[in-house]
Amino acid sequence: MPKVTFIIDGETQTVEFEHGKLPYTHHGKSESFLDVAKNFGVPLEHACGGSCACTTCHVIIKEGEQHLSEMQDDEADRLDTAWGLTARSRLGCQAVIAGDVVCELPMYTRNYVQEGGGIQLGKSDRKESKAQEGRP
Ligand code: FES
Repeated sequence: MPKVTFIIDGETQTVEFEHGKLPYTHHGKSESFLDVAKNFGVPLEHACGGSCACTTCHVIIKEGEQHLSEMQDDEADRLDTAWGLTARSRLGCQAVIAGDVVCELPMYTRNYVQEGGGIQLGKSDRKESKAQEGRP
């Protein structure tokens, strides 16, 4: 069972799933970071619903790169517009998980949806939503 660890604002959240058993959420590719996150309530942002048209699902792979699907051209082209791009960046909706992986969510996301035409760079609202819930 692949174990997926998300590092979000310095905190880790680890989930496990069984291949072929996860209900498909219709967000990104099946068993991608976004699909797994949606299944377990992990706050991975997604402005385009997982269709490779924004970069809000940007994740940075810390461990387990070899357990991910190969990057396709459309993902590589879209990633080029991501804030804080690294050599280990992937789009959470496109990278399909085949084994244990650790990823970190960047502090900022670029909320760019191709059809929308505008580029908006903003701090993730994860901290604000936590504050609204009274969490640190
Ligand atoms: S959610 Fe838009 S590219 Fe992944």
